[in-house]
Amino acid sequence: MKGVLFVSHRRIRVFDTTLRDGEQSPGIALQPDEKVEIALQLERLRVDVVEAGFAGASPGDFEGVRAVSGALTSPTVASLARTRFEDIDAAAEALAGARRSRIHVFIATSELHMERKLGLEPQQVVEQARDAVAYAASLVDEVEFSCEDATRSDQAFVARVCRVAIRAGATTINLPDTVGYALPFEYATFLSNVRREVPELREVTLSVHCHNDLGLAVANTLAGVHVGAEQVECTVNGIGERAGNAALEEVVMALNVRSDYFATATAVDTTEITRASQLVSQLTGYPVQPNKAVVGANAFAHEAGIHQDGMLKDERTYQIMDPARLGARTTLPLGKHSGRHAFARACAEHGVELVGDELTAAFRRFKERADAGGVVALEDLFEGVSA
Ligand code: KIV
Ligand code: ZN
Repeated sequence: MKGVLFVSHRRIRVFDTTLRDGEQSPGIALQPDEKVEIALQLERLRVDVVEAGFAGASPGDFEGVRAVSGALTSPTVASLARTRFEDIDAAAEALAGARRSRIHVFIATSELHMERKLGLEPQQVVEQARDAVAYAASLVDEVEFSCEDATRSDQAFVARVCRVAIRAGATTINLPDTVGYALPFEYATFLSNVRREVPELREVTLSVHCHNDLGLAVANTLAGVHVGAEQVECTVNGIGERAGNAALEEVVMALNVRSDYFATATAVDTTEITRASQLVSQLTGYPVQPNKAVVGANAFAHEAGIHQDGMLKDERTYQIMDPARLGARTTLPLGKHSGRHAFARACAEHGVELVGDELTAAFRRFKERADAGGVVALEDLFEGVSA
């Protein structure tokens, strides 16, 4: 078409780790059948990779990975593994039934973790990473390698380990902000620097994995995408270790709503997001806070009169995304901040047409009731109207 510039969107892969990092939230222990139920919803959501667990961690986790591997047809199924060969063997065995399998090998690269946690010299870490990746690559379709605590690691050392892992067969390199320490611009600079030092990274998928200790997991993930990351690791509802992981629904919708800025696209079917959020909340027992972005009960609720008035005239005044795109809907709860316009509309929707003095009197009674606190239920409302 003359005069139209077609810009192709860069594809971002969504790696969901709800069943692994998300399950590491205190108190969550999903049974294999529950993992399958969530994994099937993640498949409907069209994520690219489902990390089903850490097969070497426990017999239950092994069974979970095995059950998910046998249940999914589209997404790649992944299992986490330390650099120990017994972990890798367990992962490969649990993944045997997967249509496409991935072992996610990790080892820490920060001085603090190497010295205090692992008791290893940097050279030993390099060798373990190399040997583990090579071994995993001989057993499954794909190998992802993560430098745990990458953002607190020496950059040159991270670059060295990445180079070795790629040479050994890793097809995805993940540079996590394991303890949620990085700031968005700093994380972007870190990723750019490592990319510059390791040109081989252009031949594999660069992944970001951010924790939420400072509430920056989503911002850091987006900063990573901005500088070229092609895979985002996240969990439904942002569940995960400590303050959690980057929330899938927030990352996906930020990329979606602001595709004008990022020029990227995921394969996610956003209309399945609300269902996924509710299922994960139900099976993990972790409630979703009402004001949670994208999936909270109030994410598309407008109580203030000025906002309700705007919404009734044009929903774009106070909504940046159509809730129908998420399988959700707009609500205009009636409370102390609500306006006459929304009140009259709610009455009309319930068959009570009020105008003039009648409306004024009913609205006054409603406000008195609403001032007492909370949202006014429709029954109360009509009780007030007919009184
Ligand atoms: O946060 C982290 O570093 C991890 C790795 C195991 C990838 O979860
Ligand atoms: Zn993590």
